[in-house]
Amino acid sequence: MSKSAEYIELENKYGAHNYHPLPVVLSKGDGAFVWDVDGKKYYDFLSSYSAVNQGHCHPKIVAALKQQSDLLTLTSRAFFNDTLGEYEKYITSYFGFDKILPMNTGAEAVETALKLCRKWSYQKKGLAPESAKIIVCDGNFHGRTTTIISFSNDSDARDEFGPYTPGFINIPYNDLDALRDVLEDENIAGFMLEPIQGEAGVFVPDEGYLRTAKSLCEEAGVLFIADEVQTGIARTGRLLAVDHEDVKPDILILGKAISGGVFPVSAVLANNEIMMCIRPGEHGSTFGGNPLANKVAIAALEVVKEEGLSENAEHLGKILRTELSNFENDMITLVRGKGLLNAIVIKPKNGKEAWDVCLRLRDNGLLAKPTHGDIIRFAPPLIITEEQLRDCISIIKQTILSF
Ligand SMILES: Cc1ncc(COP(=O)(O)O)c(C=O)c1O
Repeated sequence: MSKSAEYIELENKYGAHNYHPLPVVLSKGDGAFVWDVDGKKYYDFLSSYSAVNQGHCHPKIVAALKQQSDLLTLTSRAFFNDTLGEYEKYITSYFGFDKILPMNTGAEAVETALKLCRKWSYQKKGLAPESAKIIVCDGNFHGRTTTIISFSNDSDARDEFGPYTPGFINIPYNDLDALRDVLEDENIAGFMLEPIQGEAGVFVPDEGYLRTAKSLCEEAGVLFIADEVQTGIARTGRLLAVDHEDVKPDILILGKAISGGVFPVSAVLANNEIMMCIRPGEHGSTFGGNPLANKVAIAALEVVKEEGLSENAEHLGKILRTELSNFENDMITLVRGKGLLNAIVIKPKNGKEAWDVCLRLRDNGLLAKPTHGDIIRFAPPLIITEEQLRDCISIIKQTILSF
C-alpha cells in the first residue's frame, strides 16, 4: 500500500465520514504551494476555503504564534489578558467599527451576529418578545450549527437534523423586489447575506445589489449583516467584498483569513449602539479572544496590508478570468468571480465531470475541489505571483484539453 493510501485508510477507519476529500494527503505548505507525503508539489487553488489568503505557513504569522505560545496561550475571559485589548483596538480601527466580539470559528461568529441582532431588535427597535425575524437568502452557506442549518436550502446540510430553529425568512439571492416585499413585515430585525455566495458556487450579485439592499434595510430600520467569512480580508480584491459598493454593514462577520489559516479566529464587529446590547454573561466562548489568537490575528492582518494582498487579488483575478473566458473549449461553460474568488462551471464530457477534472488537475500539480457537482472553485492564496498564476492557468488549460 502507498503512503497516501495508508493515511487515507486511517482516516476512513477512525474518523467520521462527514467529508469527501480529494484523494491527496498533504504534509507541508509554503506560500502558494503544498506537498504531499510522497514529496509531490502542488499549487493550492482552494486555500482552505479562503482561510489561507496570506499563504501557507507565513513566516510572520507563524513567528507570532511561536512567540506568544511560550508566554501565555489561554486565560479564558474570567480574567483580563495583556493581548486582547491591543487586538481589539487594532481590528476595530482596521475595519472601522467601535467594538469587536471575538469568537473562534465562522459558524460561531454567525451565531453571535444572529443573537446580537435579536437582542438589538428587542432593546432598541422595541419588537415584542420572541417575535424577531431575520431575512436570509436561498443558497446561503453560513456554517453548520443547528440554527444555521435551519435556514439552509441544502438538503445534505439540513435533512434529518430537525427540529429547526424558527425566526428566519428565506428570499431569493440577488432579488431586490423580494427584499422590498419581505421588509414590509414589521417584525424584521435583520438581513444577513454573503456579499458573494461562496459555497453556492461563487455567485456574484448584480452591480448595485448590495448598495440598494443596504439602503432598503436602513429605510426599514433593519440591520444589514454581512457574512464575510469567505469573501473578507482581501479575497475579492478589496479588504471586504462590500467595499466594492462602498457599503458599511451594521454587523460584520469575519473568520478564516483573520488568522491566515494558522489558528481558528473569528470576529463580529459592530458599533456601540448594537454591540452594547449584549451584557456580561449573555454570550461568550472559552477560547474567544485568547492570547494566541490575538497575536496571530494582528500579524495576519498586518500581512494583508504590508503585502498589498487586495491589490494582488484584484490584478490577478482579472488575468485569471480573462484567460479562462477566452479559452476555446467545450467543457468550461462559465467563468465567474471577483478578485481571487472564482469558479468555473463544467459541462461533463464522455462521462467525465468536475470531480474527474479535479483529479486530473491534482495529477498535473494543482489542487481544487468541486462544489455542488459541476462547479470548481479557483481561489489560490493571495500572495501568489503573476508568474505562478500564469503557470496555473496553463495547467488548467492543458488539463481541460486532455479530456
Ligand atoms: C460565508 C461563510 N460563513 C460561515 C462559514 C462557516 O465557517 P466555519 O467553517 O469556520 O464554521 C463559512 C465556511 O465556509 C462561510 O463560507
